[in-house]
Amino acid sequence: MTKRLTILSIVTLLGLGINTSVFADGESFFDWLLTTDSRNEIKPMQNELYNEECSDCHFPYQAGLLPEASWKKLLDPKALEDHFGDNAELDDETRSAILDALIADSADKSRYKRSKKIMSSLGENEVPMRIIDIPYIKRKHHEISDKLITGNDKVKSLSFCDACHQKADEGIYDDDSVVIPGHGNWTW
Ligand code: HEC
Ligand code: HEC
Repeated sequence: MTKRLTILSIVTLLGLGINTSVFADGESFFDWLLTTDSRNEIKPMQNELYNEECSDCHFPYQAGLLPEASWKKLLDPKALEDHFGDNAELDDETRSAILDALIADSADKSRYKRSKKIMSSLGENEVPMRIIDIPYIKRKHHEISDKLITGNDKVKSLSFCDACHQKADEGIYDDDSVVIPGHGNWTW
């Protein structure tokens, strides 16, 4: 009985090992096994200052959606004055507290599944200014017609993740939780 179980668990381990889609580049089965973070989506943002200051015009994007270098560029004082055509200026103290919170959980430091997929899809020196420019994110949305995004009054732009991803504020982006306004569930 014990022997049978042992053989069974070895077979299971091998099976999991071969199914590498759950691992990001360079991660072993044991890394994966030892942290629950690797199995989760994107770390939710718990920094209140960030959630308050960066949520006026769009939902507060999780730090794990972009690498540190991107957050540094976006949070540069000059860049914030012309933030995608809007003024998102902050006083220096607030700005640096927010930047620290973003850096602490940026995609390159995160063990969360989607952050690692984001990082492995980016070239070494790529510093995207937009989440929607990341190859992994682009690839995941290329089948959705413009009619459902820019041509949809209730969405307007792919940047408004939470228009379709019902659990975006919890850092959950799996396709089961997508409802496109006016179109319905994506998967059923
Ligand atoms: C005054 C409004 C406003 C504020 C405040 C604001 N943003 Fe934005 N942000 C925008 C607009 C507009 C866009 C572009 C949306 C679009 O193209 O549809 C944008 C886009 C972004 C994007 C890129 C999303 C993508 O992939 O297209 C990031 C990242 C971002 N903002 C981060 C922040 C952070 C961090 C803060 C807080 C420091 C912040 N924003 C505060 C208006 C704002
Ligand atoms: C117009 C609605 C819409 C918007 C806006 C949108 N998405 Fe999506 N997203 C989808 C759909 C639909 C899918 C599933 C696509 C498929 O399976 O072919 C998806 C898939 C994904 C996936 C992969 C999920 C999986 O199960 O593999 C991620 C990650 C993701 N989106 C992140 C984002 C982020 C981050 C944003 C904002 C910057 C965003 N999405 C904006 C509709 C949207």
